[in-house]
Amino acid sequence: MMRSDDVLLLCDAISKAYESGKTQTRVLKQVNLVFKTGSINLIYGKSGSGKTTLLNILAGLDKASQGNVYYLGKRYGSMNDSEMAKLRGENFGFVFQAYHLIPRINIKENILCPSYINGIQYDKEYYQFLIKILGIEKLIRKMPYELSGGEQQRVAIARAMLLKPKIVFADEPTGNLDSKSTKVVTELFQKLNEKYKTTFIIVTHEENLIEGCEQVIRLRDGEIIIE
Ligand SMILES: Nc1ncnc2c1ncn2[C@@H]1O[C@H](COP(=O)(O)OP(=O)(O)O)[C@@H](O)[C@H]1O
Ligand SMILES: [Mg+2]
Repeated sequence: MMRSDDVLLLCDAISKAYESGKTQTRVLKQVNLVFKTGSINLIYGKSGSGKTTLLNILAGLDKASQGNVYYLGKRYGSMNDSEMAKLRGENFGFVFQAYHLIPRINIKENILCPSYINGIQYDKEYYQFLIKILGIEKLIRKMPYELSGGEQQRVAIARAMLLKPKIVFADEPTGNLDSKSTKVVTELFQKLNEKYKTTFIIVTHEENLIEGCEQVIRLRDGEIIIE
């Protein structure tokens, strides 16, 4: 197996199958990937190709049927649920396809959630920077249902970034955004990548979402396509 100081996350021969009755669907087939510290990585493929499944396994939110994932050399399978939750809480940020804002608390409380849940102080100046750059300053007293899909997505992005995670896992983060907001978000990702060496693993079906990124991974029917 490959070992190097700048390898942050690695997956080794990941397969995933879903069983339902007698039929088995193989969603991922022997996927090997390496993600370097401070890199921007796109996972690109058609709907149903296994992108979300792969992202959830890399983020430790779902388990592979076979194969291993390692964060800084530590194998996910060697950790219990609470160790895994701690690793995620301290190091990972998530932007989900369906935002997952908490409905009964306001926008500011939603953004600050990772700080409350993990008992980690947040940087107040940086919070102000995030809401300003994402254009959601005027929304922070509102409730999630009062926001459009695109606004909720920008809130979810602020929440994912709040604790300056080592890795941001983002599932189609710009899927509901117009081209202007898409540009704001991709430029923010690039800025945070430069400033904090944040590693990004971004699922997208826009092949050219970010120019000049470290790695573009193409998935087709659960397999990596090497060109
Ligand atoms: N919980 C599940 N049970 C059974 N099949 C699933 C489940 N989740 C995803 N799949 C199937 O796995 C395939 C890949 O899904 P997904 O990872 O969501 O792809 P993508 O994000 O690229 O659209 C699809 O065929 C989907 O129907
Ligand atoms: Mg998906």
